[in-house]
Amino acid sequence: MPFLRALFLVLAVLPLAARPRPLPLKAAGLAAPGVALFVPQGLDPAALPPSPALVAQPAFQAPLPHAWRLRPAFSQDGDRTTARFRLPADVDLYGTGEVTGPLRRNGTRIELWNTDNYGYGKAGGRRLYQSHPWVLGLRRDGTAFGLLFDSSWKADLDCRDGVAFTCRGPAFPVLVIERASPAAVLRTLGDLTGRMDLPPRWALGYQQSRYSYAPGARVREIAAAFRARRIPCDVLWLDIDYMDGYRIFTFDPKGFPDPAGLNAELHAQGFRTVWMIDPGVKAEAGFAVRRSGDALDAWVKDASGAPCVGEVWPGDCVFPDFTRPEVRAWWAGLYGPFLAQGADGIWNDMNEPAVFGTPDGTLPEDSRHGGGGGLPPGPHLRYHNLYGTLMARATREGMLAARPGLRPFLLTRAGFLGSQRYAATWTGDNTSTERDLRQAIPMTLNLGLSGQPFNGPDLGGYAGDATGELWARWCAFGAFFPFARGHAAKNANAKEPWAFGPEVERTCRIALQRRYRLLPYLYTCFREAAETGLPVLRPLFLADPADPALRQEARAFLLGPDLLVVPAWAADAPRPRGRWLPLSLVEGDLDDPLQARLYLREGAILPLGPVVETTAQAPEGATTLAVAPDAAGHAEGRLYHDAGEGFAYRAGDYRLVTYRASRVDGTLQVREARVEGRRPAPPQPWTLLELRAGADLRSAPPR
Ligand code: NOJ
Repeated sequence: MPFLRALFLVLAVLPLAARPRPLPLKAAGLAAPGVALFVPQGLDPAALPPSPALVAQPAFQAPLPHAWRLRPAFSQDGDRTTARFRLPADVDLYGTGEVTGPLRRNGTRIELWNTDNYGYGKAGGRRLYQSHPWVLGLRRDGTAFGLLFDSSWKADLDCRDGVAFTCRGPAFPVLVIERASPAAVLRTLGDLTGRMDLPPRWALGYQQSRYSYAPGARVREIAAAFRARRIPCDVLWLDIDYMDGYRIFTFDPKGFPDPAGLNAELHAQGFRTVWMIDPGVKAEAGFAVRRSGDALDAWVKDASGAPCVGEVWPGDCVFPDFTRPEVRAWWAGLYGPFLAQGADGIWNDMNEPAVFGTPDGTLPEDSRHGGGGGLPPGPHLRYHNLYGTLMARATREGMLAARPGLRPFLLTRAGFLGSQRYAATWTGDNTSTERDLRQAIPMTLNLGLSGQPFNGPDLGGYAGDATGELWARWCAFGAFFPFARGHAAKNANAKEPWAFGPEVERTCRIALQRRYRLLPYLYTCFREAAETGLPVLRPLFLADPADPALRQEARAFLLGPDLLVVPAWAADAPRPRGRWLPLSLVEGDLDDPLQARLYLREGAILPLGPVVETTAQAPEGATTLAVAPDAAGHAEGRLYHDAGEGFAYRAGDYRLVTYRASRVDGTLQVREARVEGRRPAPPQPWTLLELRAGADLRSAPPR
């Protein structure tokens, strides 16, 4: 039977040939206590490729303990390299960056290829504007681990059967973090990939945007409306229409003849402004930015070595090659004259980079980046996912160089694991739908579980018309997001808080007043995030990682460690163990059925400020301490404050107070148990408000 034997052989060999080839491990060991580094063959462990995500190159410090459980299996298949982890079925997965879909990532697959994804419609929403090759794992017993795949090449992250990361590139290192809790994993992620720098306090205020508020007179109208209606707001955003023909770093001479004057006027009313700068440089011979970039041939190149040309808002554009240090320095230098007009913050958009009218909406995979300063030259396939991060890095450097005494506030659309070091972010072009209202919560949470605490969605939805009810419901819980900005597309209906009539306006005013009352606490949470890498907005399971009932909760969330936010439509959400005491923050909040319900953790002290219309009016410190004593009459809470701007806090000009409450002879007393920093205590005294279970807060709202 030679024929049958041959057939059998062919059939047996075929699947083998199609199967990926195992890639043996070359080295494994500890890079830090509880952090394992795995290096497959094909890499030199003593000279690893520059890490796209980490602040420092990892190196072996100690042998891997024998009992170490989580080990990747590497394999290769043509130009693809995979690292796969087999995991017990009862492990819950989170993180994976900016993602649509559920909070718990088991059973999902995403593509890591930064994509301009209007309405999250492309590829079923499986690839968005950012890439985080990172998974947080949570075991039944509450212990946790993190998997970090240190490659920026185009990739797939598959959580359907264990975790498999497959990139269209060469071998890469993998880091595994083992910790006793998910919070401890996130701290280590912060050590490895860096943390957000403390933003200026004004960036914690409410922000209002639209594509576009133009001309300048329209911006003035919006500013006036906020103040006339007493709706708190700190920041107004200037989208592309302020530019002259969408040329970056220019101003439309008709609509914005005096940007410095406009900024000064808005500043006088307690507003800050953030102005958009895209990466695409109009490919027009006479355009100054094009000319100065040409002088160093600053552009990403096509396969033939000519500058890549692609269409964005201004028409044909060329794209700065941010992998090159001299290009980043040139780009940074453009911000000096621009910021001299008085802009407070910068918004880097379209930096995947987005290119219109191409099959994939970006530059070709084989376009070329020059590298330098430790980065090797490489194809777009390698650097695409880093384009936004490197742009943000250069922008931030430019902002710092232009105004060394001010904390830069920068928003970037595209990012990569670690981009929190340079910029805040938002979740791109969502839609004014119930779907995106609901998934804004797990999206924000998972970004926070991926190292980026300063993020949020376009409140009310960007694309399509919003109904007043949707806007009000969204604002009612979105007011508690770390980044709280309303924004709307050009062809959508008006989405300012007053655009839907007095009832919606009232709901939004109350929600935003609640945010402003929480500023002292919120700022303290931001300080903690900047110090530790812990998210500002947290999933409930962080409060009790061993409680299986909290693992999938994607409606209710925690703001910092102590405040539970339950959207009005999620009244049946589970709560972490312990008592949570209902809290009223402003007049009318408990009477409005659309407002989120707020609960303070028993044993916590919540520092509050007064209702103000802009952080410029917010006093330092706290005016009220809301105390929720535990059964023994004890409570503890922290308050951080500083100048709200600048860097003197780094030299000790801050005050971090730990308050402790106890009941002495039936009376609740609060003292400053510990004070860090040398900033003097603010002059105003705080008032004490004790929360009691079952108290009718409506009759005595804390003021
Ligand atoms: C795309 C951004 O996602 C959106 O927020 C912005 O309004 C438009 N670009 C126009 O600049």
